[in-house]
Amino acid sequence: MLTLWRHCRIATCDEQSRVFERGAIVTRGAAIEWVGDEADLPAGLRTEHVIELAGRWLTPGLVDCHTHLVFAGQRAAEFARRTAGTSYAEIAREGGGILGTVRATRAASEEGLVEQSRPRLQSLLAEGVTTVEIKSGYGLEFDTEARMLRAARRLEATNPVTVSTSLLAAHALPPEFAGRADDYIGTICEDWLPRLAGLRIDAVDAYCEDIAFSAAQCDRLFTVARALGLNVRLHAEQLSNVGGSQVAARHGALSCDHLEYATDADARALARAGTVAVMLPVAFYMLAERQLPPIEALRRHGVPLAVASDCNPGSAPGASLLLAMNMARRLFGLTSAEVLLGVTRHAARALAVHERRGSLAAGRAADFAAWSIDSLDELGYWCGFNPCSLVAKNGSIVLERDV
Ligand code: NIG
Ligand code: FE
Repeated sequence: MLTLWRHCRIATCDEQSRVFERGAIVTRGAAIEWVGDEADLPAGLRTEHVIELAGRWLTPGLVDCHTHLVFAGQRAAEFARRTAGTSYAEIAREGGGILGTVRATRAASEEGLVEQSRPRLQSLLAEGVTTVEIKSGYGLEFDTEARMLRAARRLEATNPVTVSTSLLAAHALPPEFAGRADDYIGTICEDWLPRLAGLRIDAVDAYCEDIAFSAAQCDRLFTVARALGLNVRLHAEQLSNVGGSQVAARHGALSCDHLEYATDADARALARAGTVAVMLPVAFYMLAERQLPPIEALRRHGVPLAVASDCNPGSAPGASLLLAMNMARRLFGLTSAEVLLGVTRHAARALAVHERRGSLAAGRAADFAAWSIDSLDELGYWCGFNPCSLVAKNGSIVLERDV
């Protein structure tokens, strides 16, 4: 059955970044059959169902390509300490921070993780998100990492969303391995990775930082992951530069995320490797960072820029991609066009799903969002207001709200 979605303005975010001021889309089941100017609608297309969009803007369903949205508990007390002057790194060195969430997550059941995480996912879905990446990384032991990944898959099975999972076992050093970071990396490589690959993980991630893992340790992890045929991505140069981007580039990482302390040479290496740079301005804001990512160098070298929420209980306690888009514009100086591609085509590329999602073209998934806005410049302009009024996932309307 063919459905005609008519009377809309369309930003396709495809390779040609086509825009149709008097646009229409035809879908067949879960896929896009045709997209273009309504006046050019092929005469032979017999559409059985018509949806009137009343002049709204249509974009691809948004892709949030970096979240830690499955976790238990919260860290409001830690935030209070940070606002009073203690740094994120100091709290981490004391055994708080990520390890605080590890304690809460280890104590939670799979059902408990699903229930606590569902409202965060739903907050993203209400903003037009139709694809979301979810990391493990608050287990740091085999069973809890696996439980987090299963919780992520259950969220996917029970919500209108595509989930991409990343194994982030190398997020922090678990207390059982205190003083033995190399042994921990060895355990992930030799024991966990071969077993966890069966859980359908989409990528292997790591936190490369002096409060987490060294460039050499990430290099070792990625060597094993790539040999198992897994994609890799990296949290790098967030609080200092310890050489993570170079490791990510050497392994052809899908993405390199944060990057506040990356250099011009790092940007060049990422460009050559085709790695997407994921900007996480909510973490920059919540940690009151001052060092801006090298946006000009990333642009000059042609590194694709993505923007993500980083939803997590420590550095980005929120579940709003629209807020991240606003912060990317206000704090990092991205343009509205960069931000839009950053949550569509480029974000899909960071998850290696760009051939199906993150853009509107014939043959791709019928995932899109309708916005009650006059101009595309309003994406990333509103701060704490959501103009999304309709979401379609795989060709079906899954959300409608009055705006
Ligand atoms: O992307 N940088 C490391 N990981 C997260 C923070 C996780 C946490 O504080 O719980 C991030 O910002
Ligand atoms: Fe993160």
